[in-house]
Amino acid sequence: MKKLFLVANWKSNKTNAEAKSWLKEITNYELRITNKEIIICPPFTLLSGMKALIEKKKLLFKLGAQNLSPFDAGAYTGEINAKQIKEFADYVIIGHSERRNNFGETEEILSEKAKKAMAVDLTPIYCIQNETTPVPKGVILVAYEPPTAIGTGNPDTPENAERVAKIVKEKYPHIASIFYGGSVTQDNIRSFVEMAHISGVLVGGASLDVLKFTALIKNA
Ligand code: 13P
Repeated sequence: MKKLFLVANWKSNKTNAEAKSWLKEITNYELRITNKEIIICPPFTLLSGMKALIEKKKLLFKLGAQNLSPFDAGAYTGEINAKQIKEFADYVIIGHSERRNNFGETEEILSEKAKKAMAVDLTPIYCIQNETTPVPKGVILVAYEPPTAIGTGNPDTPENAERVAKIVKEKYPHIASIFYGGSVTQDNIRSFVEMAHISGVLVGGASLDVLKFTALIKNA
């Protein structure tokens, strides 16, 4: 059985109280997660509290950030650097199309971010929009997220996602795992993860709700 990565990208959602109640609620479910790596990526403000609760309740979730500074510590007002994130998380999403489109992040900036993450052993989950998006050197986890599928209820077909994943894997043989993201639900998750070159998903909307997310984990 291949190892599956289920990544919850909460985007700019949830307060501290809401995150706590999500974690409390999810402990009511018996999740079978052998061979599954479940990574929750909340906003920065929630990382510390969630880490403490996950440890206290001995939950088998990993944490990830959604972004990081392309700089080290220093005079960069408003930025959170890799070393600060590494205190609380093992992963970081880099290059999501919402960052590329709304915050003008270029390939050059994103490649700098990937370097900063890897320098402190924070694993990038590097998002690509199609098979032509470049993947920085050293990145081993890649998420294919076609912008038209994000938040639209209109996912790519598993066959096309597989086609893209196969091309990318051939182009960058050092990549260990490729995920699919974009309108993933409890009903379609299986059709994606059963593809030969897809070993996980990035879930936005459906990860915010415990009922939907636990069903998705169960169906993966
Ligand atoms: P949705 O699952 O809401 O379409 O979002 C996908 C996404 O952007 C995950 O990173």
